[in-house]
Amino acid sequence: MRLLVTGGAGYVGSVCATVLLERGHEVVVVDDLSTGNADAVPTGAEFVEGDVAEVASSVLGDGSTEPRFDGVLHFAAQSLVGESVVAPEKYWRGNVVTTIELLEAMRVSRTPKLVFSSTAATYGEPERSPITETDPTRPTNPYGATKLAIDHAITSYANAYGLAATSLRYFNVAGAYRGAGENRVVETHLIPLVLQVALGQRDKISIFGTDWPTQDGTAVRDYIHVLDLAEAHLLALGAATPGTHSIYNLGSGAGFSVREVISACQRVTGLPIAVEDAPRRAGDPAVLIASSERAIADLGWRPEHTDLDEIVADAWEFLQQLGDRSHAHRG
Ligand code: UFG
Repeated sequence: MRLLVTGGAGYVGSVCATVLLERGHEVVVVDDLSTGNADAVPTGAEFVEGDVAEVASSVLGDGSTEPRFDGVLHFAAQSLVGESVVAPEKYWRGNVVTTIELLEAMRVSRTPKLVFSSTAATYGEPERSPITETDPTRPTNPYGATKLAIDHAITSYANAYGLAATSLRYFNVAGAYRGAGENRVVETHLIPLVLQVALGQRDKISIFGTDWPTQDGTAVRDYIHVLDLAEAHLLALGAATPGTHSIYNLGSGAGFSVREVISACQRVTGLPIAVEDAPRRAGDPAVLIASSERAIADLGWRPEHTDLDEIVADAWEFLQQLGDRSHAHRG
């Protein structure tokens, strides 16, 4: 297939682009490099530097010819929960307005398939665990609200225009694959931050809340290996049905506490990691665990890299080989 990958210079987008190329697909990456890294775009992908809202129609075409692409994988987004609370306009414009522009360009060019990066944040504070796709969606921050709004927009485009669409609701993505991994200018995610402490790039890791109603008092999350996530994107492309918008949760199905993640990082690196107890972070739920039963049943997806030490080891290998290219190193 010939595929457009938006956000292919970012973490999940670059790993998925790498896997798509390995499977023989043609990949064009669009990324404005506002948070991504040009050197993360995999060799073999064509790279168009630009804002998705501005370049989507020229890249996809005006519909006067056969569609240029078989599908779009839409990763490009603003994705910092805390920032979305203080600068919501960046999220409503950067996520919702941009995606409407993309959907319009897909409609005009008759591009048939879309796979969209949705999120566990669409559910907000869950009423039960594990979370299924039929559970209430009550996002607790603008980031989750914009992703949910996009999911609704996609449903209406599928119904009205026959788009074959899938939203994948990622839980906590981690790990790395073949030189593609987490290297953000602003890092807020637990595993890369803990590993930066091991590398001496940070003094300590703060544990946000030690009084959660969990076994050790720290928050519990469902960590999914980015390679398992990439496989789900391939399966979603294969299963896409015209006029249908399918939504799938993607997690490993097991929860690990913040302390368990830090212990795994200590085991994998063999290095001391200084921790400090800190207050809860605003908007964090206590426990987020996915039921991925629907993806398993409908897509035939199987998460294969569910061992926390394996996930951490892949992230560790990636961070070590980054060297001078690491933003943490520069910062
Ligand atoms: N945490 C710490 N210290 C840190 C960083 C994180 O204790 O320095 C804790 C968080 O409070 C949370 C857990 O580690 O309990 C995981 O935090 P991350 O920031 O790595 O991930 P989140 O669970 O907050 O975020 C993930 C996705 C978001 C998505 C969210 C859904 O990364 O995109 O799940 O709520 F919105």
